[in-house]
Amino acid sequence: MQLDKGHEDSIDDLKERVLELAKRRGFLWPSYEIYGGVAGLWDYGPLGAILKYKVENAWREIFVVGEGALPIDTPTIGVEELFLASGHLSNFVDLIVECVTCHTTLRADHVVVEYLRSSGIAADLCEPDVAEACVPSRKKTQELIDSYGITCPDCGGPLGKVHDFNLMFTTHIGPGTQRKGYLRPETAQGIFADFPRLLRFFRDRLPFGVAQIGKSYRNEISPRQGIIRLREFTHAEVEVFVNPSEKSLHPRFDEVANVEIDILSKDFVGRATIKAACDRDIIAHEYLAYHIARCREFFLRVGVRESQLRFRQHLPDEMAHYAVDCWDAEGLTQHGWIELAGIADRTDYDLRQHERQSGLQMTVFVPYEKPESVERTIVRPKMDYLGPKYKDKAKQVADYLATISDPSGHIIFEGQDVDPLGYTIETVTQSVLGDFVTPHVIEPSFGIDRTVYTILEHAYDEDTVDGERRIVLRLPDGLAPVEVAVFPLVKALNEKAVEVFRLLRREGFLVEYDDSGTIGRRYRRHDEIGTPFAVTVDHETVENGTVTVRDRDTTKQVRRPIASLTATLREMLKRGFAASSP
Ligand code: GAP
Repeated sequence: MQLDKGHEDSIDDLKERVLELAKRRGFLWPSYEIYGGVAGLWDYGPLGAILKYKVENAWREIFVVGEGALPIDTPTIGVEELFLASGHLSNFVDLIVECVTCHTTLRADHVVVEYLRSSGIAADLCEPDVAEACVPSRKKTQELIDSYGITCPDCGGPLGKVHDFNLMFTTHIGPGTQRKGYLRPETAQGIFADFPRLLRFFRDRLPFGVAQIGKSYRNEISPRQGIIRLREFTHAEVEVFVNPSEKSLHPRFDEVANVEIDILSKDFVGRATIKAACDRDIIAHEYLAYHIARCREFFLRVGVRESQLRFRQHLPDEMAHYAVDCWDAEGLTQHGWIELAGIADRTDYDLRQHERQSGLQMTVFVPYEKPESVERTIVRPKMDYLGPKYKDKAKQVADYLATISDPSGHIIFEGQDVDPLGYTIETVTQSVLGDFVTPHVIEPSFGIDRTVYTILEHAYDEDTVDGERRIVLRLPDGLAPVEVAVFPLVKALNEKAVEVFRLLRREGFLVEYDDSGTIGRRYRRHDEIGTPFAVTVDHETVENGTVTVRDRDTTKQVRRPIASLTATLREMLKRGFAASSP
């Protein structure tokens, strides 16, 4: 047998082969195929659904169990106020342009970048190594289309004017059209909206992390790349709330200090340890760096190849409206480097926005070691004025005013200026016990679907066994949708094999029984869905109660007693075939 390590370099159409396998073997199917399908919507078939579930579980093991980020589950429909506050209604836009001839709507900046790249024009808006990160502004995109005469990549027709297109899906909550709703574009906003309750849950102490896995929705303009760009996708996000003055010191930094990562940033390209990246200010602070390391741990655990994983810092133009620093974990696939996760420092942006919109305080009281005497400018609400003016909202306005110290300019509550006659501004000397701090948020945010695709591509292999070509999916053992296959060598042994199959199922293995076709064909069928171990019941089984266990990757076999089979397989799933079959 010959193993084709590094095969991916030699398979030109790897992405087509992976997709063909995924469709044929029940990992991925285009949604609503019987009605012609819809770009950007994909189903997970039975094997894909188990694989995805296991990827999500690996994520939970690291971030929920390992990091103690507690999970919550909030609705996928959000109210208008939520997204007014978050900025998604005004800022969550992509640039579109329509072809005047064929009327195809295209992502304008992608058309421009693609044109500049393919025609070899050095674009001053792109860093050479990060060309895929180019995000030209609307004005710049229009200028480039006009000055280079860029035309429709599909039909060559002229392009119209560049527009903003908001990616949010809208809906209405309840009958009639009274209350607008939006399908969430990220799970994070549900977490921010729960901040006051979360703070109480975590007993008013920072830092704490909150995790959420669920569907997010983005009305992507022209999603053409399988499950890489979806209109409905699974997000796995953690929001870590931290005192901003403590971002530079993560309590568990030592655990990751020596982890090495591949880095691509404006100031540094190469490999460095997490500690060196922090010490040299390549990564801004320990909280970001720590989560980058945990992110790497997750990707390696689920089978993303380390040699095809890098961390790229966003260019200033590229950053989401809420972030001051963001790193993408990128996996190299035949689609190029694709963003699998973003690790962002969202600062206090979201909490401050929701504080303004809701009028509720989004701060944590952080006590000093001993009280301090300080002069403060405070806002004193005048209830006799606020009462008649704001009626049943007056208390909320007064409470809000009382939280403000050192005000500058207008005071805004629920998007409106508070009438200045409703308060006085006074300077007082106070004994202060502590500070109200708006936490900063460090957010590792993962795309589960892109991760699943990358795992499939990195696991896909073709080699030759006994002179026959085979496809083999070299998934990490624990991730395989079928963990053990059970085969009778010949029909006469079916009954005994079913017994073994039932035993393994009872013991909690994901097991499949297969008695059709030659034994070779059955092995091939399971090799290509990544089943790590195949148990064969043969004539010796009847004589001495043993079976053979075959390893998917090496095709080696060992003989083991049925009496200890479950222990053997558990050990193999945990430590690998070689480690448990010396
Ligand atoms: N809350 C932060 C946030 O949403 P993002 O970079 O927009 O950040 C995080 O998304 C991850 O979600 C990305 O790294 C990517 O893996 C995944 N993702 C984003 N848009 C996607 C889409 N249209 N289809 C599939 N996955 C997507």
